[in-house]
Amino acid sequence: MVMKYKMYIDGGWCGADSYFDDLDPATGDVMARFPSGDGSDVSRAVDAAHDSLGKWSRTPPPARGRILYKIAEILRAEKKRLGILLSNEMGKVLPEALGDVQEAIDVFEYMAGEGRRLLGNTTTSELKEKFCMTVRKPVGVVGLITPWNFPIAIPGWKLAPALVCGNSIVFKPSSDTPLCAYELVKIMEKAGVPPGVVNFVTGSASSVGEAIVKHPRIDGLSFTGSKETGEWIVKNAGLKKVGLELGGKNPIIVMDDADIHLAVDGIIWGAFGTTGQRCTATSRVIAHKKVKGKLLEAIVKRAKALRLGKGTLKTTDVGPLINKAALEKTEAYVKIGKEEGAKLVCGGRRWGKKGFFHEPTIFDSVTPQMRIAREEIFGPVLSVLEAGSLDEAIDIANSVEYGLSSSIYTRDVNKAFRAIERIESGITYVNSSTIGAEVHLPFGGVKGTGHTREAGILGIDEFSNFKTVYVDYSGKLQRAQIDTKD
Ligand code: UN1
Repeated sequence: MVMKYKMYIDGGWCGADSYFDDLDPATGDVMARFPSGDGSDVSRAVDAAHDSLGKWSRTPPPARGRILYKIAEILRAEKKRLGILLSNEMGKVLPEALGDVQEAIDVFEYMAGEGRRLLGNTTTSELKEKFCMTVRKPVGVVGLITPWNFPIAIPGWKLAPALVCGNSIVFKPSSDTPLCAYELVKIMEKAGVPPGVVNFVTGSASSVGEAIVKHPRIDGLSFTGSKETGEWIVKNAGLKKVGLELGGKNPIIVMDDADIHLAVDGIIWGAFGTTGQRCTATSRVIAHKKVKGKLLEAIVKRAKALRLGKGTLKTTDVGPLINKAALEKTEAYVKIGKEEGAKLVCGGRRWGKKGFFHEPTIFDSVTPQMRIAREEIFGPVLSVLEAGSLDEAIDIANSVEYGLSSSIYTRDVNKAFRAIERIESGITYVNSSTIGAEVHLPFGGVKGTGHTREAGILGIDEFSNFKTVYVDYSGKLQRAQIDTKD
């Protein structure tokens, strides 16, 4: 018997007229069924969020922080169980699934501490006896729309700062991973988040997602997902404060002086970890022509040895793709790569009798103009390009519309700093892969990735607005810009 789960609105658990299936991507079996919410559920959630907002936003931030610590504590106690559940629902291998839960623990702990900071600024005034400062205010009611690839960590990135800043929330998880989101909501309820502060509405993007984006009483939105959806949100969100984390086409540059073994480790981890389904995944290698041959040989050997399978099995290196559409998209890009004249040197086929598996795939002789070198595939497909110099490699790195993560392998400090200076991306790693962001540093991109920064202190900026305060204690009218000569 497949269990039916509920949504959480105004502190109560509720169903809907119809339900959708939540699949295990390794088997295609139905794991759970979730309510197909709609616009009226979103409206009820928004009303509840508004009702709770006054009290919650006036709760002292350290008290909000204490609830966040409690959430982190419960997550830590349940890490193993949640990791297994996450691996089953999303497909990533268990060590990565445990890392996903850990990332949420980290962000709740980090943001809990913000309860005793939420710093503003004080500054000078151009007038005498006048005091100037900024204080933080919550954005208000915020809509959080989260993806399936980090089904606990990314909701955590958004929920933790949104809560500590005093916002009330309407949370719509991806329909591929509602169970992880449900577990997180249960934990928030148990930790003492008051009714109405977090509302959890499941359902499709076209009903629940659209209703959130267009709702006139939602003040802010935070979305992680595709560039196309991000563009649609910008056009439809009206004047809401919008945060966007969109795609990537993240390069690793390997210079001729690099430690090749280290680079191979980073490439395999970045390209095929999470089955290539990270915004930060390594999807391009730009190798110096002097080392490309031996680099390619080494990565192909390693990629061929990767074992596909269900994420919870110890023998699995690479799990399935999230769903049928993702598998078909990957297959379509393999076909496009071949047609474009790139050389398939590894993988290239779906795998297994059930589930949504695709072999780790590498294309050689890729040129910067090819679609497989420019478009986000979000699967285990790596394009290898060649460059004759650092400048050429950086130009290729920058020739795509995305700009999230990037990496360079070199032993030359001058080359490393030149890359840091010139690569157009929100994150640059030196001698490390394109994945592995930590929660206390800003995360985000430039160009087609969107310009929002999440995590770290800038995650607080996403979910708060500065109020500027002037206190004139002179007892007389003082006019800025006019009465400034003494
Ligand atoms: C994402 O792929 O959307 O840096 C997030 C990383 C992870 C987060 C990835 N910590 O790869």
